[in-house]
Amino acid sequence: MNLPESDSEDELPPGWEERVTVDGSVFYANHLTKNTQWTHPRTGKKKRVSGDLPFGWERCIDKNTAKVIYVDHENRRTTYTDPRLAFAVEEKEHVNDYRQRFDASSTALQVLHGRDLNGKLALVTGANAGIGFETVRSLAKHGCTVIFACRNLAAAEEAITQIRDEKAAAGDNCIAIHLDLTSLSSVVQFANTVKSKYDRLDMLILNAGVFGLPFTKTLDGFETTFQVNHLSHFYLTILLRPLLVTGSRVVSVSSESHRFANLTIQNISPQTLSPDSASKYWDMMAYNNSKLCNVLFARQLAKNLQDCGISVFSLHPGNMVSTRLARNWWLYRVLFAVVRPFTKSLQQAASTVVYCATAIELVGVTGVYFNNCYQCQESAVAKDDEMAKILWDTSVEMIKTVLGNNAPGLDHENKKSLEE
Ligand SMILES: NC(=O)c1ccc[n+]([C@@H]2O[C@H](COP(=O)([O-])OP(=O)(O)OC[C@H]3O[C@@H](n4cnc5c(N)ncnc54)[C@H](OP(=O)(O)O)[C@@H]3O)[C@@H](O)[C@H]2O)c1
Repeated sequence: MNLPESDSEDELPPGWEERVTVDGSVFYANHLTKNTQWTHPRTGKKKRVSGDLPFGWERCIDKNTAKVIYVDHENRRTTYTDPRLAFAVEEKEHVNDYRQRFDASSTALQVLHGRDLNGKLALVTGANAGIGFETVRSLAKHGCTVIFACRNLAAAEEAITQIRDEKAAAGDNCIAIHLDLTSLSSVVQFANTVKSKYDRLDMLILNAGVFGLPFTKTLDGFETTFQVNHLSHFYLTILLRPLLVTGSRVVSVSSESHRFANLTIQNISPQTLSPDSASKYWDMMAYNNSKLCNVLFARQLAKNLQDCGISVFSLHPGNMVSTRLARNWWLYRVLFAVVRPFTKSLQQAASTVVYCATAIELVGVTGVYFNNCYQCQESAVAKDDEMAKILWDTSVEMIKTVLGNNAPGLDHENKKSLEE
């Protein structure tokens, strides 16, 4: 993989100025030679701005000079510079050719700085706490409408109140709908409610997760970590597929723990995915395996949807980030507390989630795993296309054992639309 170039390379030499044409092409003016050119004088690359002007801005024609001016109505300012110039994106030779703009220390709000997400709709599972909460808080503050998909509606309403207290308009962008990922029928009910209210979804963020649980089975008869972290999210995505349109993104919050999974192409089966007794269960391995499933699922989904203009990403948010994830065993709680001063803050942990869901340079990119807001190689097993396909088919069969062969969304027509 090529190392990203540094930001300083983007600095203009003395005497140069960056400008934007009305159709969004960036050009460079040299005040000394009075020449203009389309390519950056240092990098030799072309750039474009795209999308709407930030909220409150308007493009007008100056009556006196007949030049294009940009009016910032909120701050009562006028400028000749297109405000989107700060977010101009290099024209790519290859779709996966983008530079690193953020790193491990970047926060979700830095990633979104200057972005206007008014009119966009995001759905985030487990939005009431931890990384999910920081994700929705950041998105809503930038104008995005957010569906909180949560099992505890009181906690979700409390989280929305917290956002409203910070910024009233952001709180008004949030709505909570009940979803319990330990139940496939709750997933069906939730998806039906969402489909009855909305006809498109810009971001589907599969974030909810459990870790370190003692062996338990859900009402559907699956091991809980497997069902919450993978199977229910898998089914939710299939059911919400009709709302995903060109430009939509699916983001699966996985973990670097996926590298320590013991699932292989030789042993993958309903029994290894969801052990049926405590004697075959180790909470850490159940978590690692479920996080490997997140990456493999994203891989197969990206493949299925590659011709529909829908991007699918999986990611690692950060190591041992201090959330309630460690709540299930005192030793994990102690370990997470001890390392807390050295780990990412919640805002930093949410940055890669928000980046995958919104970054303009990722338009057209799909099937990539991210860490620290940049593409990263997943484990060899996680890159195995055959394994990803087996996991997909096994997941469908496991859902059918509970909901029957006519399970909603798993009928022939829907399967076809997912695979086209
Ligand atoms: N923290 C880390 O260091 C770390 C590292 C790598 C990856 N991750 C991943 O990041 C994601 C978010 O974790 P977090 O650290 O923010 O943990 P968290 O604070 O425990 O948040 C987890 C969220 O998932 C929800 N959830 C759990 N079971 C659910 C169910 N049955 N139905 C619906 N929602 C359910 C929780 O709801 P309740 O509040 O009702 O329990 C909560 O909102 C997870 O996928 C995790 O694997 C975290």
